[in-house]
Amino acid sequence: MSRVVVTGRIPDTAIEKLRAEHEVDAWSGPESIRRDELLRRVAGADAIVSLLTERVDAELLDAAGPQLKVVANVAVGYDNIDVPACVERGVVATNTPGVLTDATADIAFGLILMATRRLAEGERLIRSGQAWKWGMFFLLGSSLQGKTLGVVGMGGIGQATARRAKAFGMEIVYQSRSELDPTIAAELDARRVDLEELLSVSDVVSLHCPYGPATHHLIGAEQLATMKSSAFLVNTARGPIVDEDALATALREGSIAGAGLDVYEHEPRVHPGLLGLDNVALLPHLGSATVETRTAMAMLAADNALAVLSGERPPAAIS
Ligand code: GLV
Repeated sequence: MSRVVVTGRIPDTAIEKLRAEHEVDAWSGPESIRRDELLRRVAGADAIVSLLTERVDAELLDAAGPQLKVVANVAVGYDNIDVPACVERGVVATNTPGVLTDATADIAFGLILMATRRLAEGERLIRSGQAWKWGMFFLLGSSLQGKTLGVVGMGGIGQATARRAKAFGMEIVYQSRSELDPTIAAELDARRVDLEELLSVSDVVSLHCPYGPATHHLIGAEQLATMKSSAFLVNTARGPIVDEDALATALREGSIAGAGLDVYEHEPRVHPGLLGLDNVALLPHLGSATVETRTAMAMLAADNALAVLSGERPPAAIS
């Protein structure tokens, strides 16, 4: 029997699955676990099931000890994990790709609609109790039909977002490290372009690339200036891909039309310059937040941990 430390609350079915084979120490407090408490609890762990709010770095790995075999992140993004530090120590790191693709693409498309059709503004107006009535020019947004969606990062979530956009009558361009599978490219009628062209031709730019040193502030002042003044930026990937200072300025000065954000550069803090702007829709990192998706993520993380603990290859290894 091995010792599994779970760093935050995850669905019971996943805890039960782990408990059937191992001793499980799961943090169940309403707040994220404090760092000192986490460092103390991981001592002697063979597996850590981590949430994206916890930093898994050399300090944490060393606090666990040399018997640690696996870090199973309950997220597809793993910028909270120092993967080279895991590799150095022979610890397998895993994530949860695939199971949250549709849920996240739904939120990306929700934000596209919120931003282009000014849905949050309308909702705020009604709730404010202010007088309103239908008017020919009242809260006009922008249509999506015939417009171009630029997908930055054409992995599973980018493709699922493009598929939704296609159903809304949009054209698709994308920027990606690799060419799309020809069947999928044909289905989406998607054209691969470089980032500069994507920014200059797109009416909506949606970010779906992983976060790391190569994508830190991928979208900054220069990139925002390349976008059309009628265009919208949507980020459901990771906050620091966008320079939030530059975004707040671009939105305030009208150099782009609007934005929709589910993730933030200094999450959970939201840039104060964004909070007062009407042309940005703001969500609290809800990309994978459905009962079904979170359950599937936790089960996949449990399967990853269990596989490594029994000496097998996990279904979703990062390293
Ligand atoms: C959520 O943001 C994830 O990476 O799974």
